[in-house]
Amino acid sequence: MQSVAPFPFGASINVPLLKSNPTYRVVVAREYNSLTPENVMKMSPIHPAINTYSWTNADTLVNFAQQNNQRVHGHTLVWHQSLPGWLTNFVGDSAAWENVLKTHIQTVVSHFAGKLASWDVVNEAFNDNGTLRSSIWLQHLGPDYIARCFQYAHEADPAALLFYNDYGHEYSTAKLNAIDSLIRSFLQNGVPVNGVGLQMHINKNTSNSSIANAIKVMAQTGLKVHMSELDIALNPEGNQSLTFTPALSQLQADKYNFIVRAYKNIPAAQQYGITTWNVSDADTWITTNYSRPDWPLPFDSVYQKKQAYYAIIEGLTSKWNYDAATAQSTSGTYTDLGNNGTAITANFTGAAMTFDNDNSSIQNIGFNFNYNGSTYNQFVLNTNGFIKLGATAPSSASIFYPTYNGNTNSVITAPDVDLLYPYNHDLTGTATTEYRVYTSGSPGARVCTIQYRNVADKLAPEQYSNMNFQVKLYEAGNTIEFVYGSWAPTANTSTLITAALGIKGSYANNSVNLSKGSSNSWSASLSTANGIYFINGDYSAAGPQFNTRNSVLPEVGRTYRFTTLAINTLPVTLLDFYAINKKTGIVITWLTANEAGSKNFEIQRSLNGTDFTTISTITAKDNSQATNNYSFIDENAAARKGTIYYRLKQNDMDAEVNFRVL
Ligand code: G3I
Repeated sequence: MQSVAPFPFGASINVPLLKSNPTYRVVVAREYNSLTPENVMKMSPIHPAINTYSWTNADTLVNFAQQNNQRVHGHTLVWHQSLPGWLTNFVGDSAAWENVLKTHIQTVVSHFAGKLASWDVVNEAFNDNGTLRSSIWLQHLGPDYIARCFQYAHEADPAALLFYNDYGHEYSTAKLNAIDSLIRSFLQNGVPVNGVGLQMHINKNTSNSSIANAIKVMAQTGLKVHMSELDIALNPEGNQSLTFTPALSQLQADKYNFIVRAYKNIPAAQQYGITTWNVSDADTWITTNYSRPDWPLPFDSVYQKKQAYYAIIEGLTSKWNYDAATAQSTSGTYTDLGNNGTAITANFTGAAMTFDNDNSSIQNIGFNFNYNGSTYNQFVLNTNGFIKLGATAPSSASIFYPTYNGNTNSVITAPDVDLLYPYNHDLTGTATTEYRVYTSGSPGARVCTIQYRNVADKLAPEQYSNMNFQVKLYEAGNTIEFVYGSWAPTANTSTLITAALGIKGSYANNSVNLSKGSSNSWSASLSTANGIYFINGDYSAAGPQFNTRNSVLPEVGRTYRFTTLAINTLPVTLLDFYAINKKTGIVITWLTANEAGSKNFEIQRSLNGTDFTTISTITAKDNSQATNNYSFIDENAAARKGTIYYRLKQNDMDAEVNFRVL
């Protein structure tokens, strides 16, 4: 795994096993370039008596790592667990406790100075509700003990990178926000913190969107991000008779693949690496700690590579950056292009475009659109409801489910790559059919809209006499939207039609598809219960694919949005900021792009250009929409004369506009 990873790939190591098990040693040396001691550097084993330190096992790990050119990440200096008896029985005032803390940190850090790249300085200091854990350290030293731990560690080894490590970022927003605030307060107060560790002891039910969110929020601190203790449990219920089935193996593989792909979206300079919490299902803490069968790691109990291992490798090398976890369904507006843009009238061979099983001539997007590791500025439209990015025609003009309830041979399994399919089905034209493309907006925030106007399905009984839908490509964020206009049902018997709806990269597994039961609403909130939900990879043969019938129509404006796993750590892009004097007051307006992950906007006012007061806080829309409009009316300003200074603050962005009230 280390050889293909664009960042350090590691594992926590059980040193007694490293010493006793040659197979373990071989796998550890081959697969990882970063090692974390699972236990031997914790306070209990390394500092068994107040004036006694036990370095042997820890030194063994360091020596092994040096022999195999592997980084060592120290774990952990200050924790509420693995505490030696002499400490839990220690009696002293806060100064004595402070000395115990400082001495332990500085003795251990100095011992490994120059040999360890980094440390988990403090581990698991928060409760899941975001309050500080009532550990022996908090009880005796108060909440600032955490900051002092970092200062003491930095003094002992200024070169070591220092991390705050914890778990639960993916399931507790309160804890995530508490850790985020702690880190931001450390950055404001100059506490020497370099990184955050997300343990990620997750399981088969942990949602991908909550994992993506945890990674995003921690990446937006700007610090190094270490996925420090990754394992994916398959038996959180503790079912003693559960076995490791192919279905569980696939589920685990998909989640390991997702995590690696999501992690890759952290800016490279912040990628401190992914570390699994041990190596194989034989040495995981989970089976012993929870006394249950489980298979959480990429290697099986005899150190053979599992499906999860290959899914990690695929994720490490894949360019695919979309996911069902970041796909959305939302209401919206459908605006027909009218005469805007260009009608698509020629086919790929240069002849007149027909409406049945035909590929258009090469069309321009109007800007560079990044997709699945490639940059496209052209596409080819196929009459059967799909777009092929690039300047080559699809392998066939008639790729669609062959029968009204077909489940094979859609664009998803076709050899073609980089396809967008708002409604891949056997379609044809009507008297008023037209295909059109139109690019609008200013550089950096342009949108390419590709429209199918008044097409119909071809199957008997025909279900729709006129269907209108658009594909929208957004320059900002490489977001893709499918927007549905009016669909006219025929009076024919309502009959199930299977279609494919989604986006695809290099192969079927690299796709995000919308699954819907034919009688389920297009706009129900996404859930299996509502029978409409996004999936990664091809539909199962049993379906549902994207099933429709003429008795259930899309509401005009229904929008399905595909956003990348990209993490925006850049400040929002402010496209415009101005003020106008209106009867109701001074209207302050601003336009933004690139907003994912934004915090609130603060409007500040000053009458002398220096002393600003916040007059309003506006919640950011925080979506991947190309641009966002905001306005605020300063009703109190109208009465004032002279120059009024307005300032817009957000994240670490500052903008100012001076407005002269005549
Ligand atoms: O070394 C003693 C051994 O002398 C004694 O005979 C044996 C019998 O009790 O215990 C051994 O100590 C055990 C130690 O692992 C080494 O095997 C402790 O009882 C046992 O509690 C300890 O468990 C470790 C646990 O942290 C507590 O320190 C797990 O292996 C380790 O995987 C786990 O790791 C933690 C991370 O540090 C922090 N995040 C969560 C993660 C999982 O809990």
